[in-house]
Amino acid sequence: DKGPYAHYMLKEIYEQPGVISETLEGRIHKGRLLEASFGHETTALLDKTKHVQIVACGTSYHAGLVAKYWLEEVGVGCSVEVASEYRYRKVVVPEGSLLITISQSGETADTLAALRDSCSKGYIGSLTVCNVPESSLVRESDVCFMTRAGTEIGVASTKAFTTQLVALRLLMIALARRKGLTPEEEETMVNELHSLPRQVEVVLELADKIQIMAEDFSDKHNALFLGRGAFYPVAMEGALKLKEISYIHAEAYPAGELKHGPLALVDETMPVVCALPDDPLLEKVLSNLQEVRARGGELFLFSDHKVNIGLDRYQSLTLADIYPGTAPIVYSIPLQLLAYHVALLKGTDVDQPRNLAKSVTVE
Ligand code: F6R
Repeated sequence: DKGPYAHYMLKEIYEQPGVISETLEGRIHKGRLLEASFGHETTALLDKTKHVQIVACGTSYHAGLVAKYWLEEVGVGCSVEVASEYRYRKVVVPEGSLLITISQSGETADTLAALRDSCSKGYIGSLTVCNVPESSLVRESDVCFMTRAGTEIGVASTKAFTTQLVALRLLMIALARRKGLTPEEEETMVNELHSLPRQVEVVLELADKIQIMAEDFSDKHNALFLGRGAFYPVAMEGALKLKEISYIHAEAYPAGELKHGPLALVDETMPVVCALPDDPLLEKVLSNLQEVRARGGELFLFSDHKVNIGLDRYQSLTLADIYPGTAPIVYSIPLQLLAYHVALLKGTDVDQPRNLAKSVTVE
């Protein structure tokens, strides 16, 4: 039942504050991670974990890419790969490596095959971040860490993605503890997560403004999404959402790669979307965007109060000040809404995009 919403995708976008709270429920309390809730088998595996290999497809792969930035920040090495490539590569597994699969459905054929093949590869064990309790990935992994997004019907994944990021952030805090995280640092990270549902609500209130932005996309054939650091995978996810439901060709690039090729594509017909929070890479991104402006590219920016954009002609939406740890989650929301409103204007089938299936159980 879609309730008051025109599409399941929109309903699922608006369910995010609630399902993020669900995913945090019983796992954090008063500035502490409640690790006992992970189960003894999981904590025992985390004790042995020195490195993490993440394997997933599509949107779930993008969640894994964000987690890589988080894990490496606390000193845990991490590799991330799409399952369809990982499977056919001769992988060298570092000592103490934990295999993490990420999947909404738990039935994605390549991800499942990657898990099955991993038994012979020397991992210390396998953990799945998954949304469907009775799924194959849950049954066949050593341990699971469930997202609690509820049933996701829209083919374009939204609430599954943000709850995957929440789950991965919780796992990161658990691993960080083993790397000497102080109680004060833990409290900061946990409090960021605690306030996340409210932050997402605030972004959802900007929907009308995003709808207006979307008007500039409906006659476009291409779009470029830029980001640096953990916002690069956020850009990748934004581009995937736009292409799958609006059929506009969208590509994501690390902003620093612009002058190594894609800048040649930029002219007045090319919208360039960028998440631009106040973070250590801000100045670098601004200088990349300056190059886009100099070629007449139209800029669509998502930023916060602290950022002085200082460019000519751009559209921007200012998000409330947010926390660095959870910012990639918060900045994913306006990109979901942008894709949704562009698709709506183009009149495409938002919930059932052509050629796509919700669960890819064939290779
Ligand atoms: C994109 C999308 C797909 C899935 C991918 C993996 O919106 O939904 O890219 O993310 O097919 O599916 P799961 O997460 O079920 O393994």
